[in-house]
Amino acid sequence: MSARTITTTSLLALKQRGERIACLTCYDAAFARVLERSGVEVLLVGDSLGMVIQGQPTTVPVTLDQMVYHSRCVTRAAERSLVIADMPFMSYATPERAVAAAARLMGEGGAAMVKLEGGEPLVETVARLTAFGAPVCAHLGLLPQSVHQLGGYRVQGREAAEAERIETEALALQDAGASLLILECVPSALAAALAQRLRIPVIGIGAGNRCDGQVLVLHDVLGLTPGAAPRFSKNFLAELASVAVAGSASVDASDGSGVAFGIEAAIKGYVEAVKSGAFPAREHTLA
Ligand code: KIV
Repeated sequence: MSARTITTTSLLALKQRGERIACLTCYDAAFARVLERSGVEVLLVGDSLGMVIQGQPTTVPVTLDQMVYHSRCVTRAAERSLVIADMPFMSYATPERAVAAAARLMGEGGAAMVKLEGGEPLVETVARLTAFGAPVCAHLGLLPQSVHQLGGYRVQGREAAEAERIETEALALQDAGASLLILECVPSALAAALAQRLRIPVIGIGAGNRCDGQVLVLHDVLGLTPGAAPRFSKNFLAELASVAVAGSASVDASDGSGVAFGIEAAIKGYVEAVKSGAFPAREHTLA
C-alpha cells in the first residue's frame, strides 16, 4: 500500500474536511488507469456490469465468479484508488455465504471493500464481515438487485415512513461497522439529512448534491448506455464535445493517447464537477 493509497481512513478525512468524494464504476484494467489518472478516488466494480458489459436486462444474473474476474482486472491496474467489489445477488443471503463471497472478492479479486444492498436484514452480516476484517459499503434506497420485487426502478423514501426506515437502517448499518453508504435514488433532502447525521461518508447516485460524494455508472458518463440514460446521470463526454464545437475548449487527441484523451478529459470533467458541487445540478436531482 503506497503512501498515496486511498483508504477508509482517507475517505473519512475527506468527509471531515468537507471535500466531496469522486467515485465511478469500473470493470477493467484499461479504465482503471484512466479513472485513476483523472482523480477518481473510489472505483466500484459494480454488478451493473451485468447490464453495461454483458447486455443483460438486470444485475440479477451476475455471478460471483464474474465479479471476482472483473475485480481482479481492476485491481491489477489500480495503484492508489480504493476498489469496492459488489457482492452479487444472493451471494450474501446468509452471513456464512457473505463471508465466503467476501473472501473471494478480496482474496482473489483484490478488492479493499465489499458492497451489499439492503438494510435491517443485513445488520448481522455487516457485523460478521467487519469482525473478520472485510470493510463494508452498505447500499440503501433503490436496490437494483431487488428490481423484480420492487416492480421497477423508482425513487425510494418519498413517503415519511419509508424515509424513516431508510434512516434507521443507515444508522444500524453504520453501528454494525459499515465504512461507507451508497444512497441510490432518494430525495435530495433525505440524502442531505443522512450525510449530516452519519459519521461515515454517504455517496449519492440520484440523491442530490448534498452527499459526501457521488457515484455514476461509467458507461452513462461516456454515453455508452443504449437507450435513455437515467435522468440523474450525465454524459460528460458529450458535454466536452459540445464545448469544443462551440470553440471555447480544445479536445486535442494529438498527444498520442488517441481517444483516451477525450475520455480522460470527460472523466476529469466529472471529477471537477463532483468536487465543486456543480454535479449533480438541479436537473439531475430527484425530488
Ligand atoms: O452496480 C452498480 O454499479 C451500483 C451503482 C449503481 C451504485 O451499485
